[in-house]
Amino acid sequence: MSDTLLVTGASGHLGQLVITHLLDTLKVPPNRIIATTRHPEKLAALAAKGVTVRPADFDDIASLTAAFSGAQRLLLISTDALDRPGHRLAQHKNAVAAAAKTGVKHVVYTSMPLPEDSPLLIAPDHLGTEQALAASSLSWTLLRDCWYMENLFMYLPSALATGQWYSAAGDGKVAYVSRADCARAAAMALASGDTSKATYTLTGSEAFTTEDVAKKVSALVGKPIAVVHVPVEGLIQGMVAATGMPEPVAAIFASFDTNTKAGRASTVTGDFQKLTGAAPQKFADWLDANKAVLRGA
Ligand SMILES: NC(=O)c1ccc[n+]([C@@H]2O[C@H](COP(=O)([O-])OP(=O)(O)OC[C@H]3O[C@@H](n4cnc5c(N)ncnc54)[C@H](OP(=O)(O)O)[C@@H]3O)[C@@H](O)[C@H]2O)c1
Repeated sequence: MSDTLLVTGASGHLGQLVITHLLDTLKVPPNRIIATTRHPEKLAALAAKGVTVRPADFDDIASLTAAFSGAQRLLLISTDALDRPGHRLAQHKNAVAAAAKTGVKHVVYTSMPLPEDSPLLIAPDHLGTEQALAASSLSWTLLRDCWYMENLFMYLPSALATGQWYSAAGDGKVAYVSRADCARAAAMALASGDTSKATYTLTGSEAFTTEDVAKKVSALVGKPIAVVHVPVEGLIQGMVAATGMPEPVAAIFASFDTNTKAGRASTVTGDFQKLTGAAPQKFADWLDANKAVLRGA
């Protein structure tokens, strides 16, 4: 396989891990990798290794057609643009259109589990992007990444500091997957040469309720965490009061709990193993690897 592989959003957490896997795990020659980013200056070390680093911003269509030229396979990493409804989907549609126009053959996209008819307020971005790919001339691999174990760092520092974890997720479970595993899967899908249209829902090997996670972290750190179950409206108002975040943003975060409560993040699949041939990182091992950070939180 001598395709040129392109990774968008290459300076983000996931993007950097993907490129490390391409270079170090899969031994893809650096001159077959294009890394695009809004911040090329952050990727000077990759450029020094022989990776082609190009500026690209999904809000700037001209930058995309210039950046994508010469690539055959492209990893479209979903952006973090949640500032206004529809913005992120418009960005992704720009990227899909530019990929088709510049001769890219295959796109790998980082989506989410069950984006159809979802209560999660960011789901339409993912569903719309999947639909844009389906309507395009491109072939694609959809990686429906379940929630990263790393997302827990958004909740655990305050839960450990206050001893309370406000949740509207009820006894819904999440099949957490590590970000590193999502990166490994994305790198393998990109480098595989596979042009069939395939969907993988990437999860860890177990699913946990908020209470389960609280108990495990509590035992590891030696501090109590009580899960305080609240209705979703209460969660939104609590976030606004505690952090000053705008209500629409709090509503997005709270909708993750609604989604979890409805059981839409709980299914454990074997897709990670199917795609990579390896077992996903166990939650207990991830906790162990992060215990110093958690103990210091
Ligand atoms: N499954 C989960 O639990 C989970 C959790 C968090 C996030 N996510 C999603 O997965 C993505 C990667 O996660 P991460 O942890 O690597 O997030 P991150 O470090 O916050 O990275 C944000 C990403 O968005 C890209 N981006 C933002 N605006 C862009 C624009 N205008 N044009 C092109 N790219 C743009 C960034 O690229 P550059 O800065 O290099 O331009 C970067 O790759 C996130 O953006 C989000 O959509 C999933």
